[in-house]
Amino acid sequence: MIVDITVNGLARHLQARSDSLLPDCLAGRCGRCLVFMDGRLTYSCLVPAFKARGSVILSYEALASLPETQEIETAFSAMESPPCPFCRKAKALVLYGLLAKNPNPCETEIIEALSMVDCPCTDHYALIAAIARMAVGRNKRIYSRENK
Ligand code: FES
Ligand code: FES
Repeated sequence: MIVDITVNGLARHLQARSDSLLPDCLAGRCGRCLVFMDGRLTYSCLVPAFKARGSVILSYEALASLPETQEIETAFSAMESPPCPFCRKAKALVLYGLLAKNPNPCETEIIEALSMVDCPCTDHYALIAAIARMAVGRNKRIYSRENK
């Protein structure tokens, strides 16, 4: 059965058996399995394979070489404590999605995007600042290119 709940402000449609316990269903939240499914960031571990029939799936690997992703990776690398290998791709993916929709996100929007990836350990303020700086730099570059 499908159980609709809200977890950390995100609507979730959990696949559950009648004897499933809540922690079993909530397992999907680390974000390591995030993909774009038909343009929407999706925890693929929560999607029954039959529901993906005909979908267009994009994983981090498909986007890794794009300049937009490379900029995010460069911002990560410049941090004193960059995201660890466990969450790095997922964070890059959610930030890619955020910046594609909103090239100038505020702090709250960056926090909200990153909330899709469970990370108890990183310096969130440094990460938010790094992404905000990166977005400003990117916008300036685009602006000056378009106004030459
Ligand atoms: S493996 Fe899907 S959220 Fe963790
Ligand atoms: S899980 Fe990667 S830095 Fe926290």
